[in-house]
Amino acid sequence: WAAALSMASSQLKYVSLGVLVLQTTSLVLTMRYSRTLQGEGPRYLASSAVVSAELLKILACTLLVFKEHSYSLRALNRVITEEIFNKPMETLKLAIPSGIYTLQNNLLYVALSNLDAATYQVTYQLKILTTALFSVSMLGRRLGVYQWLSLLILMAGVALVQWPSDFPAVPEQRQLSAGSQLAGVVAVLVACCSSGFAGVYFEKILKETKQSVWVRNIQLGLFGLVFGLMAVFVYDGERVRESGMFQGYNRITWTVVALQALGGLVIAAVIKYADNILKGFATSVSIILSTLISYFWLQDFDPTSIFFLGTVLVIVATFLYGYEGKPSPNPSRA
Ligand code: C5P
Repeated sequence: WAAALSMASSQLKYVSLGVLVLQTTSLVLTMRYSRTLQGEGPRYLASSAVVSAELLKILACTLLVFKEHSYSLRALNRVITEEIFNKPMETLKLAIPSGIYTLQNNLLYVALSNLDAATYQVTYQLKILTTALFSVSMLGRRLGVYQWLSLLILMAGVALVQWPSDFPAVPEQRQLSAGSQLAGVVAVLVACCSSGFAGVYFEKILKETKQSVWVRNIQLGLFGLVFGLMAVFVYDGERVRESGMFQGYNRITWTVVALQALGGLVIAAVIKYADNILKGFATSVSIILSTLISYFWLQDFDPTSIFFLGTVLVIVATFLYGYEGKPSPNPSRA
C-alpha cells in the first residue's frame, strides 16, 4: 500500500514535470508571437492579460477543491470560509509571493516584447541560480560540489548567450535595438530574483503546513487579482478608460491567458510533488524545444555559434545539477 502510494506520487512528479515542459514551451512561443504580430486595432494590454490569467486560475483551483470534496457545494463553501476567510493571518502570508509574482508576470511581457524567445528562455535560466541560493538560505538545503560547479557553468552559459552578436548596420536602429535589448535583459534579471524568492517562499509555506495546494493557490490568486488590478490602473488606466479592459484581445491572447493560468496550476503541482530546483530542470528541456521551433518555424532568431555554445553550457549545467547528491526530499526537515 505504501509502495503503491509512493509510486503514484513519483508518477505525479514526472507527469507534472512533463506537462511543465510542454506548457513552458507553448507559453513562451505564443506570448512572443502575440506581442510581435501586429494585427488591426490596438494591441492587447499585458497587464490585463495577467489579471485574466489570475481569474482563470482561481476558477480552476476552485473547481479542483470542489472535486477534492466529492463535488459537494456545502463542503466547498465550508473550506473556503474556514481556510481562507477565517484564517486571515494564514491567507496574508501569501500576499508576499503573490505581489512578487504579479510584478514578475508583468515583467515577462516586457522581456518578451524586447527579446526573441530563445534569448529570453536561456537568460531566464539564471533563475536556477537564484532558486538555489534562496533554497540554501531559506530552506537550509545543502548543495554538493557538482551542484555549485553546475551553477558556475550556468552563469558562463548565460553570459555567452548574452554576448553581443551582429548589430544592424544603421546606427539609429542599432541604438534602438540595443536599448530595448537592455530593457528586456533587465526585466528578465529582476524576474529571475523574484522567481527564486517567490518559488522558495511558496514551497516553504506548502511544506510547513497541511493545507491543500489548491487552497493555497486560491489564496495566492486572490492577492494576485488585487495586485494585478492595481497594475492595470497604474500603468494602463488611461488606455482602459479609452478602449476598455479587453481591447485588442483575440484568440491568440486568450491562448496566452489560458496557458499562463495552466502554468500556475502545473507549477504549484511541481513544487508540491517535486521541488523548485527540478522545476528549473524542466524548463531547461523546454529551451531545446523552443529554440528548435523558434529557429525552424518562427524564424525570428538566427543562432550564432556563441549562442549555441552558451545554450549547450546551460543544458549541461542543468543536467549536472541533478547528477549528484540529490537534495534532501524534504528540505524543511534537513
Ligand atoms: O518562472 P516561474 O517558475 O517563477 O513562474 C512562476 C509562475 O507560476 C508565475 O506566473 C506565478 O504567477 C505562477 N504560480 C502560480 N501558483 C503557484 C506558483 C506559481 O500561479 N503556486
